[in-house]
Amino acid sequence: MNNFNFVSGVLGALLMVNAQAQNFPAEQIKLGAETYARHCSPCHGARMKNPEGAFDLPTFPKDQKSRFLNSVGKGKNSMPPWEGLLKPEEIEALWAYVYTGDNN
Ligand code: HEC
Repeated sequence: MNNFNFVSGVLGALLMVNAQAQNFPAEQIKLGAETYARHCSPCHGARMKNPEGAFDLPTFPKDQKSRFLNSVGKGKNSMPPWEGLLKPEEIEALWAYVYTGDNN
């Protein structure tokens, strides 16, 4: 286990302790869906279907928000970093979209 995994494990555990029912405002999910369609769908598939080589986002663990923010912000392997390109509230909205799935 490297340090990064250790730190995100601890963060994840803390987040779980604090976990509350996640209720996202409809307009936040909508912003997330729009941001997703523009920037993420080329690799992760339209409406998170058919991710091909990229991560299958509907299976992303819901208790690992810190991992999501980190991977999206800093990038991961062949995924580019989005920090700087996207506003923090857009990345938060992407989490709301991924968390709730594309049921809206
Ligand atoms: C250029 C193609 C590409 C684009 C565009 C892209 N991704 Fe990815 N994404 C990938 C690939 C490839 C992986 C798998 C990385 C790995 O684990 O090696 C990935 C992995 C992920 C993961 C999982 C990271 C983890 O911790 O395992 C998340 C979450 C994610 N992407 C979200 C997004 C979001 C949100 C966007 C839009 C802002 C986006 N991606 C845009 C290619 C892309």
